[in-house]
Amino acid sequence: MRIDILTVLPELLESPFAASIMKRAQDKGLVEIYTHNIRDYSTNKHRNVDDYQYGGGAGMVMSIEPIAAAIEKLKSERTYDEIIYMSPDGELLEQPLCNTLSLKGNLMILCGHYKGVDERIREHYITKEISIGSYVLSGGELAAAIVVDSVVRLIPGVLNDETSALTDCFQDGLLSPPVYTRPPEFNGWKVPEILLSGDSAKIDQWREDQAIERTKLKRPDLLK
Ligand code: ADE
Repeated sequence: MRIDILTVLPELLESPFAASIMKRAQDKGLVEIYTHNIRDYSTNKHRNVDDYQYGGGAGMVMSIEPIAAAIEKLKSERTYDEIIYMSPDGELLEQPLCNTLSLKGNLMILCGHYKGVDERIREHYITKEISIGSYVLSGGELAAAIVVDSVVRLIPGVLNDETSALTDCFQDGLLSPPVYTRPPEFNGWKVPEILLSGDSAKIDQWREDQAIERTKLKRPDLLK
């Protein structure tokens, strides 16, 4: 998979992909992640990428020219399966969307700032708009990092034990059951007996029951 991210703040996207699973996925050649500074496509002598909004009102709008130039350049080099715009009014990011995106080849992600991008970008270039939740961030970069992380970890071969993505929270529409590690007792607080029993059928049943209980308690909406 190849992911191209268009941003005015590329430095915000350095550390999220420079460690742990995201780094390993790139080192293994399973994903290539590139950031592109939209300012590099500004023809303005001050490298401006925003302007006042038509009709008046507070807040700047990201200009169409540099973004269109960046998108056109990338599109001339390869075909994109999706050109995504990060926006609080987009489709809510949930596990099924992550699963779908993990099967794609080339993704482009545009990070918004200020009051947003000139609407013509959305109309003519964007194929999918994604929100990570009903709150407003200062820009789309952190949201884009979340999309990339949640998608890349699903690419086959990225996680060492592939089943661990399959048993993730939400993959079966349920929250994950509780987990424990050594010691078996701490401060008198014991690990559930069944997990020490060695009876894998019983353990599987217990985990499923716990997942259902937990989901009923914490996220009953998932069971509807
Ligand atoms: N940009 C600003 N807020 C956002 C959000 N909640 N989701 C995606 N992109 C955003």
